[in-house]
Amino acid sequence: MSSATSILEDVFSTSVRQELLELRHNLHRHPELAFQEERTARTLHEYLGRLEPKVLARIADTGVVARIKGRDPDAPVVAVRGDIDALPIQEDTGLDFASVNSGVMHACGHDVHATWAVGAAHLLSQQPAAGDVLIVLQPAEETGRGASKILESGALDDASAIFGAHVDRRFAVGEVVADVGPLAASADTFSIELVGSGAHGARPQEGIDPIVGMASLITELQIIVARRIDPGTAAVVTVGTVQAGTAPNVIPGTASLSGTLRAIEPETRAKLHDELRAVAEHTAAAHHLEVAVDIEHGTPPIVNPEEPVAWARRAVSSLLGDEALKPLGTVNMGGEDFAFYMEKLPGCFLRIGAREQGGKVIPGHNPKFYAADESIFVGAAVLAETARIASEALR
Ligand code: NI
Repeated sequence: MSSATSILEDVFSTSVRQELLELRHNLHRHPELAFQEERTARTLHEYLGRLEPKVLARIADTGVVARIKGRDPDAPVVAVRGDIDALPIQEDTGLDFASVNSGVMHACGHDVHATWAVGAAHLLSQQPAAGDVLIVLQPAEETGRGASKILESGALDDASAIFGAHVDRRFAVGEVVADVGPLAASADTFSIELVGSGAHGARPQEGIDPIVGMASLITELQIIVARRIDPGTAAVVTVGTVQAGTAPNVIPGTASLSGTLRAIEPETRAKLHDELRAVAEHTAAAHHLEVAVDIEHGTPPIVNPEEPVAWARRAVSSLLGDEALKPLGTVNMGGEDFAFYMEKLPGCFLRIGAREQGGKVIPGHNPKFYAADESIFVGAAVLAETARIASEALR
């Protein structure tokens, strides 16, 4: 047992502790992909039902919401979100509760996130917040589509704030990141089609070659981050696919490429979009090519605001001591669809240490990834206490 467990021993009864461990192992053993979380939703519905919440409902296809009663029906409602979906990865952890679903795995710790939400529901049932707390189990985070669907369901219409977190094995169990500022990047997808005119490979002057244009465009796209974006902020332009041509002696009529755009600030994100279009149009023009640029908006960046972070930090300090608070210490260019909630509601997103004593740093989305069991109690307690503090502060 790590020291974090003993720190929180007075927060969870032995029976709740056992129940949460059992739930986590159950979810981890039976992972399901985005919007296919039928068994997961049924399991979470059943566990939450035992707490007899004010409202318990299925939402957003494979999501679940439970409304835990507060002390005062007129006090502000806050929400705690846990995402529940898994990834198409073959598990290689060797855990005794490893996935039994071939090719599907909780490689991002959403089994623990879902357990946090249920654990927070337990704690908030025992010691209610000022207002009701919505426990939101969200499907399909990995595809970036679940949060929007929860928002569309109306389940959060009377919420005044929302809180969520992610496990992180770069931090030990008992450590928590609750930083003001960027915590996750925007993640947008682009595709560009260049249209020229086909010809014999021996007579290029008779056609308009999209392949040379594409080669030039791939290089020109690199100037966006290198020359257009302030070096003081982070941005990424990555070309991930290129497609053109059918034979060595044929100049094709079209060429296409696709990639991802990442930024940690909304202004930088907008600039990436503008510059991508400008570079594509001008490069195409220089090659006498037609061009079509399509940018698919994915998740916005998460930029944690000051006041909700102060609530979370107070929660962490009171539960685990000031020394538990650690800075992120890097820039996270990954996307997280919790950002969609933060476009509508105040709140913040935390990272919860998930490395057991003596354990290794294992990146998420790796076949060997898992979060240490004890991280269950840290996340659940921190989210519940943050919800209590927020509900009181918003009155
Ligand atoms: Ni994740």
